[in-house]
Amino acid sequence: MKKLQVAMIGGGGEGSFFGAVHRRAIAFDDTREVVAGALRSQPEAAMQAAADWGIRGYPDYPSMIEDIQQGRLQIDYVTIVTPNHQHFKPAKACIEAGIPVVCEKPMTMTVDEAEELARLVEQKNTPFVLAHTYTGHPMMMYARELVATGEIGEIRKIESWYNQGWLADKLEDAGVQQAGWRTDPQKAGLSNCGGDIGTHAMVAATWTSGLEVKNVSARLNSFVQGRLLDDDFNVLAQMSNGATALIWATQIAVGYKNDNGFRLFGSKGSLEWHQERAEKLLLRQGNCDQTYWLGANFDFWPESVASYLRVPAGHHEDFFEALANLHCTMERQLRRNRGENTPAPYPHPDVRTGVAGMRFVAAAVNSSKQQGAWTEV
Ligand SMILES: NC(=O)c1ccc[n+]([C@@H]2O[C@H](COP(=O)([O-])OP(=O)(O)OC[C@H]3O[C@@H](n4cnc5c(N)ncnc54)[C@H](O)[C@@H]3O)[C@@H](O)[C@H]2O)c1
Repeated sequence: MKKLQVAMIGGGGEGSFFGAVHRRAIAFDDTREVVAGALRSQPEAAMQAAADWGIRGYPDYPSMIEDIQQGRLQIDYVTIVTPNHQHFKPAKACIEAGIPVVCEKPMTMTVDEAEELARLVEQKNTPFVLAHTYTGHPMMMYARELVATGEIGEIRKIESWYNQGWLADKLEDAGVQQAGWRTDPQKAGLSNCGGDIGTHAMVAATWTSGLEVKNVSARLNSFVQGRLLDDDFNVLAQMSNGATALIWATQIAVGYKNDNGFRLFGSKGSLEWHQERAEKLLLRQGNCDQTYWLGANFDFWPESVASYLRVPAGHHEDFFEALANLHCTMERQLRRNRGENTPAPYPHPDVRTGVAGMRFVAAAVNSSKQQGAWTEV
C-alpha cells in the first residue's frame, strides 16, 4: 500500500508545539508521511525547519499550494498547524484547489470565515477534518456510540470542561510563544480561552451527545491583569433537545494540566470520561457502576471503533494515537474515494463542527458583554 503523502503548513521549528505532535501522529501507522511543508511564518526559518525534518521546504504556503496545483508537488492532503489567524486563508486556498485538509481548531477567527469554509467544502466536496484531538480517543468515540444506541436514554443534563493552569501567570510577558499569540486578539480571535479550549469542551458536549447548543448565557473573565482576552470561560447552555449543559474552560486553575472531560446524564444512565485517564469510560445505571477499559482485545467494541484500536488492554493508547486517529479518518476517506478497501471512516469533527464552534464562542462573548443575557448561537 502506497503511503499517503502529506504536506504541512506551520508547526515547524524549535519551540513550536503541535506540529511535532501532528508529524508523529501522521507517521504513526506507517501509512502516511509528511513530505513537504511551509513550516514557519518567516521564509528562511521555514526552509531551515523543513531541512531539519528532511522534507521538501517552501518559504510560504502560497508557493507550496501553487506547486501542488501545477503538479510539481504530489500530495494527498494538507495539515494546517498555524496559530488561529492563519487557519482561514491557507484552508480556503487548499479547498479552492481541491486539496483535502486536516485543520487545527478553532477553525477560523470569525463566524463569517467559518461559514465561508463550510460552503466551499460542501460545494467542492473536499474531505475536511477538524483536529479536535480528543474525539480520536476510542473511549470518547465509544461514549458517542453508547448514546446513539440509547444506552443512557434521553440526555437531560451535561457537564463538560477543560481546566488548565498554565496561564495563571502572565507568560505572554515572559516570551512564551504559545502564550503570546493565544492572548493577542489579532492572532487568537474573539476569545483566548473559549476559542482555544472552550471549543474542546463544547465538542465534548455536542459530538458525544449528538445535540447542538441553541442558546447560551456566559461569563468570561480575564483574571490576569492587563490581558486583553478571557482566561476563564463559563457557559450555561440550552441544548437542542431542551437539556441543560454547563460548559466551562479555564487557564487559571493553578496546578491543572489538561483536565478535559464530560458527564452526560440521561434518563437511563450517566457516562463520565476524563482525558487524563483516557483509557476508562464510566457508565452508571444504578447499583454497580460499569467501567469500560480500553483494549483492542475486548469484544464490546462496535466495528466502527474497534478498527481504530491498536494494542491489547493494559497498554496505553493516548494523545498521539488520538490525533493519529483523526489522520486515519482522513486517510480512510481518501482511500475509499479511490475505491481502495479500507474500514469505514468515523464521523469525526468536520467543517460544520468548526462553524458550530465559532458560533458558540461568538455567542458566549456577546452574552458575557451583556451580563450573561441569553444569546442565540
Ligand atoms: N487539537 C489540539 O489538541 C491542539 C493542541 C495544541 C494546539 N492546537 C492548535 O494548533 C495550532 C498551533 O498551536 P501551537 O501551540 O502548536 O502553536 P505554536 O506557536 O507552538 O506553533 C505555531 C507554528 O506556526 C508557524 N506559523 C505561524 N504563521 C505561519 C504562517 N503564516 N505560515 C507557516 N507557518 C506559520 C510558527 O512558526 C510555528 O511553527 C493552534 O491553532 C492551536 O489552537 C491544537
